Amino acid sequence: DGLAVIVVAAGSGTRLGYGMPKALVPVAGRPILEHALATVCGTLPGAAVIVTVPAGDTDLTAVARAAGAAAVTGGATRAQSVAAALTALPAGVTHVLVHDAARCLTPPAVLERVVTALHTGAQAVVPVTPVTDTVRGVDTHGRSTGTVDRAGLRSVQTPQGFHRALLERVNRAAGLLPDGPLDATGEDPRLGHSVRTAETATTVTGSAGDPEGITDDASLVELFAPEHPVEFVAGHEESFKITRPLDLVLAHAIVRERDS
Ligand code: C5P
Repeated sequence: DGLAVIVVAAGSGTRLGYGMPKALVPVAGRPILEHALATVCGTLPGAAVIVTVPAGDTDLTAVARAAGAAAVTGGATRAQSVAAALTALPAGVTHVLVHDAARCLTPPAVLERVVTALHTGAQAVVPVTPVTDTVRGVDTHGRSTGTVDRAGLRSVQTPQGFHRALLERVNRAAGLLPDGPLDATGEDPRLGHSVRTAETATTVTGSAGDPEGITDDASLVELFAPEHPVEFVAGHEESFKITRPLDLVLAHAIVRERDS
């Protein structure tokens, strides 16, 4: 129904310390990516799903295909991975969600809230949660610049939702995608390489550096298309990003709880 979901899973997982790509690390016996795709595909069965995988990967590609998703080789940064996936979107896609595989326990209701917001006219949507820690600013020497009022802060999660044209536009503006439309095959001669879809298997590598301090997709909209306000929907505490070993302990416990 014109919806595509990009699930970014091309990260190395260095901070998790498992010696394998993070999305392959098992939670209750199944790879993180498999958990993420079960929710995405189960909640949004009509959507085209594209997974970004590390260069040379075969294992995550197999997990993606088993779930009915396409795999594309990601880039050196998250933003470059998203851009690589954008070049592989099928025709007819009007709205795109971008989701971290590492947020593999995101409840279906969060995906539904993001999609509903898009369908009711939002151009860019992010799920957010309140900040519960007391937060301080620091200067370049690590010295305190004072406490920041957490009432005015939100933690940002995924999936983030966008009108496709807007997301492509801000990726072009950031130099993450070449100027001008991609042709119908998804091949862009100016890239000097071809994109990988479910059927073909060549490599996309990002070329541009990421804009300073940009760690998600909605920030690109704010920077390059400020006329489109980013709308909030409620995120969820179980949508946390598995990053450190402690997060895996928590993820295990949640899966056990849900299965019982
Ligand atoms: O590193 P971090 O946990 O913030 O990454 C967030 C998500 O982006 C992860 O799901 C990771 O696999 C993905 N990623 C990617 N390509 C990269 C870096 C991260 O797809 N080059």
